[in-house]
Amino acid sequence: MERAVIGAAPGGMSVSQAVDGRVSTRAFLDRPVPRALLEDVLRRAARAPSGGNLQPWTARLVDGEEIAALKALMCVRIAELPDGEPMAHPFYPPVLTPAALARRRRNGEILYGALGIDRHDAVARKAWIDENFQFFGAPAGVLLFIGREATPYQWLDLGIYLQTVLLLLREAGLDACPQADWAMYAPTVATFLDAPPDLMLICGIAIGHADPARPENFIRTERDDPLAAFTLR
Ligand SMILES: Cc1cc2nc3c(=O)[nH]c(=O)nc-3n(C[C@H](O)[C@H](O)[C@H](O)COP(=O)(O)O)c2cc1C
Repeated sequence: MERAVIGAAPGGMSVSQAVDGRVSTRAFLDRPVPRALLEDVLRRAARAPSGGNLQPWTARLVDGEEIAALKALMCVRIAELPDGEPMAHPFYPPVLTPAALARRRRNGEILYGALGIDRHDAVARKAWIDENFQFFGAPAGVLLFIGREATPYQWLDLGIYLQTVLLLLREAGLDACPQADWAMYAPTVATFLDAPPDLMLICGIAIGHADPARPENFIRTERDDPLAAFTLR
């Protein structure tokens, strides 16, 4: 694995290096991240383009005692509602294309293979998925919201903002994981954060320093050539 798991040198990183070096990190060291640094990243990421310059994103940073309280609350909520709360939008279409299904399966194979979790071991898989709601042990997290009336184009804008945040974190020598799973408990999170009802939680981001002792931080996911075929993907 050529990519250093902890702390690429801050500064001097090319966009190509940030794009190539960004991976989803799912186990973090208990090492705090300065809040001012994260606020700076979240503000600078707003240079991301958006249709009509609507800038439809709202980012809510959680760290310190607040993230500890959210993690504790999530343990309670998961015990009460292990399958989550009703979701405004499903994660995936009801039927995945064969190509998408194959990629999703392969992704699971790589991840659960690294974790040593058998794909038939539903209990272990569920316990691991629940780690999402501890931000995988990260000392900081971000919860991203957009307006409930947003169209798919504003969701597109939010995605661009998300990736800009991830690349700036990479440049700052930090590791992260985007987390749509937070949408499974959107009402709980919204209440905890006192979010206005016209905003909808789309995803979270776990942020910190990758734990170099954990195998899931060394996986390299695969990609198909987006130019390969003009076909349904
Ligand atoms: C919008 C979005 C939501 C995601 N949600 C989750 C999540 O809830 N939990 C998780 O472990 N990974 C999540 N991921 C990470 C993907 O699984 C990951 O990006 C994909 O497998 C490719 O791996 P890479 O990020 O290491 O390149 C999410 C990624 C994106 C872009």
